[in-house]
Amino acid sequence: MPQRFRLVSLLADGRFHSGEELGRALGVGRAAVWKLVKGIEAWGLEVFAVSGRGYRLSEPLELLDRALILADMRPEARVLLAGLDVLPGTDSTNRNLMERAAQGLASGFACLAEHQWAGRGRQGRDWISPFGANLYLSVLWRFEDAPAALASLSLAAAVAVARALADMGVQDIGLKWPNDILWQERKLSGILLEMAGEPAGPCYVVAGVGLNVNMPPASGDLIDQSWVDLRGIVGRPLARNPIAAGLLSRLLEALETFSHHGLSPFRAEWRRLDCIQGRTISISSPGGGAQQGTALGTDESGALRVDVDGHVRRFHSGEVSVRTRP
Ligand code: BTN
Repeated sequence: MPQRFRLVSLLADGRFHSGEELGRALGVGRAAVWKLVKGIEAWGLEVFAVSGRGYRLSEPLELLDRALILADMRPEARVLLAGLDVLPGTDSTNRNLMERAAQGLASGFACLAEHQWAGRGRQGRDWISPFGANLYLSVLWRFEDAPAALASLSLAAAVAVARALADMGVQDIGLKWPNDILWQERKLSGILLEMAGEPAGPCYVVAGVGLNVNMPPASGDLIDQSWVDLRGIVGRPLARNPIAAGLLSRLLEALETFSHHGLSPFRAEWRRLDCIQGRTISISSPGGGAQQGTALGTDESGALRVDVDGHVRRFHSGEVSVRTRP
């Protein structure tokens, strides 16, 4: 186990620990403890250092616990899980699984990390991933279909996240095409799907979900869009292990259902949660250029239908922003 992670485990109770005590437990001197503290601050943790008392985290930390997560999963999902890694840190859980998928990792394998140092968002953005604060989860799924047939999987994955949030009693969730999960117009969770495979053959997908749970303010300041975390919604810090279990369960179930039935079992729920339908939006295409119109909902392939100057146009990819005027 890396020394930095051992230090976090020692500090997780939120109490003061002297440099001497920490050094003894880690088998290093006090100067090395100080260096390790700087290292965990770089992970996004807030550490108070008080002379004569030692170090403590700004608040206690509940670390991810593989056994608790497995025990809390929905039984119908547990049988779909091929394996689960819970890592102290990785560059990106998506990249981690994409690499191992190429070497034959089994469908249904999942990876959670306490921290990502190169978390990936959609459209080439970063996903801010401080240690121990939120959930960063990826699941590998193999499909018989060619990659092009899976365009609408984004929407099914978003419905899965909305289901996990509904299981926890979170209300007022809205979905913004293609797969943003919003609460009162602020981003709570995002999904990044990455695929590889032959144009006409089987392929695999890594579905990655980032869910803001207890975002530290200093990390939140780095996010360049309006965001919210579960703590902000329910008004208190939340235990991440049961949330991870619910999220993983709903995602696995959705991947399994989608592989047999496609988007149709998800469409009614998508329509109910669609928070841009009827609104004036601007949609920018990956290749550049933006169009404005009225969002009309999605079609059976998951494409967004937009009324642009009286003509219905379909968008298969792009970034939507909602215009403030009605
Ligand atoms: C978005 O921009 O809305 C998508 C964000 C997806 C973030 C998750 S966190 C787990 C997984 N690993 C990554 O590097 N990205 C996804």
